[in-house]
Amino acid sequence: MRIAVPAETDPAESRVAATPDTIKKYLSFGAEVAVQAGAGVASSIRDEDYVAAGAVIAPDAAATVIDADIVLRVRRPSAVEVAGAKPGAAVLAIMDPYGNVEALQSLALAGVSAFAMELMPRITRAQVMDVLSSQANLAGYRAVVEGAAEYGRAIPMMTTAAGTVPPAKIFIMGVGVAGLQAIATGKRLGGIVSATDVRPATKEQVQSLGAKFIAVEDEEFKQAETAGGYAKEMSAGYKAKQAELTASHIATQDIVITTALIPGRRAPVLITAEMVKSMRPGSIVVDLAAERGGNCALTKPGETIVSENGVKIVGAVNLAGRLPATASALYAKNLLAFAETLIDKASGSLGVQWDDELVKATLLTRDGALVHPSFQPAS
Ligand code: NAI
Repeated sequence: MRIAVPAETDPAESRVAATPDTIKKYLSFGAEVAVQAGAGVASSIRDEDYVAAGAVIAPDAAATVIDADIVLRVRRPSAVEVAGAKPGAAVLAIMDPYGNVEALQSLALAGVSAFAMELMPRITRAQVMDVLSSQANLAGYRAVVEGAAEYGRAIPMMTTAAGTVPPAKIFIMGVGVAGLQAIATGKRLGGIVSATDVRPATKEQVQSLGAKFIAVEDEEFKQAETAGGYAKEMSAGYKAKQAELTASHIATQDIVITTALIPGRRAPVLITAEMVKSMRPGSIVVDLAAERGGNCALTKPGETIVSENGVKIVGAVNLAGRLPATASALYAKNLLAFAETLIDKASGSLGVQWDDELVKATLLTRDGALVHPSFQPAS
């Protein structure tokens, strides 16, 4: 069984899908592993580190993927990039499937079994495979670090001979995995932290981290969580009440970190242009939802802009990728845990259990067809 670790092709991607640690494990399952030369450089992993772990370095993408049974990637590869793999090879990546049916169809035509890691069910058995959590946690941490770096003042209160520096007020909008880590990081830096979410379960979580919870707690709020633990799209009426409450709060905040997402949809707009106008010059918005349309109306994905009244809006994309060594280590472990379930260790070969609920939830393509029910071409 041959496992391939090609280099990422998006120049903005600094992560890599395997580390020397995970490669040692794959070898112990009877696999041989080929890593593309330079694949780990941006994550501070040298080719010789991979070789020391037992991998073979291949000179280019084609030589890496040739005859592979399993291809490990961070981002979805193109059909051309997996063309040399064996028919039916398992390709594991963050596939970004929503709105990209054509790209998925071309992967189907390439004859591989493509698995979308972000569709992993959030059940106990799959916690170790949860790439959304491993990466969102780092993104939440990094968002506060970015916000602090952009902020022209200190975060903690400081009493000095030259005067007292007031603590920064940090507001976290959306308290999922990223938001919880952002709260914890803001507290560690000495900020006065508050947070909001539409899911009632978050209230206690926010308070247990020592932050203040701010939300419209009406009947709709009490029903806002789906069985899977995600937020629902809220009604126009709720959104209006939420906007009224947050508008007055935002006007007093120094750093606002937004992380609000609804699976498969555009991110909800929580900060309007008017709200940005109400903020003080020098205030910061770090919009972690930038890639999905942004929680702030003014966000430009991948850019930091300054509003007319001097508010910096950081349209952060791939924040986990700004901690590439840590992000790769965790992502590679997520992949290893899932790949292990696809390997028949007795024979040392790929042995996908097609009726496993993890496979059913994540499998996009099989035998030339796009098989996932959520991503069928419009008829
Ligand atoms: P996410 O990335 O989908 O969304 C981030 C946050 O935005 C969520 O807390 C959501 O409620 C919030 N949000 C959505 N619309 C909003 C609005 N209009 N205003 C304010 N906030 C809004 O969420 P994430 O981080 O993926 O977490 C979702 C759930 O999954 C949580 O309950 C989390 O605890 C749970 N989870 C469970 C795991 C497991 O059991 N294995 C692992 C990781 C997370």
